[in-house]
Amino acid sequence: RGVVVAVDGPSGSGKSTVSREVAGRLGMDYLDTGAMYRAATWWCRRSGADLDDQPAAADAVRRMPLRMVTDPAAPGVICDGVDITAAIREAGLTAVVSKVATNLEVRTELKRRQRDLIATAVAAGPGVVAEGRDITTVVAPDADVRILLVADEQARLARRARERHGAADETALAATRDEVLRRDADDSTVSSFHTAADGVVTIDSSALGIEETVAAVLSVITS
Ligand code: CDP
Repeated sequence: RGVVVAVDGPSGSGKSTVSREVAGRLGMDYLDTGAMYRAATWWCRRSGADLDDQPAAADAVRRMPLRMVTDPAAPGVICDGVDITAAIREAGLTAVVSKVATNLEVRTELKRRQRDLIATAVAAGPGVVAEGRDITTVVAPDADVRILLVADEQARLARRARERHGAADETALAATRDEVLRRDADDSTVSSFHTAADGVVTIDSSALGIEETVAAVLSVITS
């Protein structure tokens, strides 16, 4: 049976980049659960479900034909036969994803699918690195390795600004503030990813580069 590595953290903590890199080095699968909440948002819009109508949105998500590609070299999201890997990162979608992610019936459905994907990966290979907001606490509290990746607000804003706008100047930081801070505040109402649960190892990446953070995660896995 393969190993389950669970990584949680707020937006801009580096969890996606680092989890993907770690999975690649260990020959494991990589599961981006945030991409599933993004896909659910895309699917609600495509199928005409009102994001503010919680039962309707949950019904749509239960019918969502979603396929997650968990190869860390080329992770992908296919929904209803459409490759939405890039579309789910658009600003307009990012701005409303918390509406879907705070819908508790949606969370129940995606949690079920995430557990299935994790089980399939550990049955087939050396394991899976699954990352998100509630993996260490709700989706896989029994994971072999559980890590909370944190970073201070300034570092998280600067990373997102560079990703989105190619710079971390005042204009870029201001444009990023809503995306990161408002979304984290909304997400915090349903998941607690700012403090580590019992048995979860915290890694603070504020002063670390990607390579150093990868090394820190690898050392927790091999310890
Ligand atoms: O990369 P970033 O952390 O900014 O976002 P993401 O991982 O792509 O996740 C997008 C959104 O999905 C988050 O803002 C949460 O609303 C939601 N999410 C969640 O509720 N639970 C998870 N396990 C993962 C993501």
